[in-house]
Amino acid sequence: MRFRDGGVAKADEAYIRQSILDPAAQVVQGYEPIMPTFKGLVTEEGILDLIEYIKSLGTTEKAGP
Ligand code: HEM
Repeated sequence: MRFRDGGVAKADEAYIRQSILDPAAQVVQGYEPIMPTFKGLVTEEGILDLIEYIKSLGTTEKAGP
């Protein structure tokens, strides 16, 4: 996806983890940085579960060859 600062990145596990713990670090273009941090609120296991769940949702981007 594309970020407000013009950067681009893939929503890999590291990005999803960062988006949960430090959501303001990279905000997707078209969105405001309103998401609160979940640091201290979700256990490490919870974060891993959330990452697995979000990955299971798939993508609208075309998969590579
Ligand atoms: C367990 C709860 C939550 C999880 C796991 C979560 C996870 C995420 C993830 C992974 C992204 C990045 C999406 C992408 O790049 O395509 C994101 C973005 C976003 N989230 Fe959340 N979120 C949660 C709760 C919330 C809440 C409570 C709010 C608002 C009150 C919120 C507002 C937003 C917004 C506006 C964005 C898009 C802007 C950005 O990239 O920061 N989220 N969230």
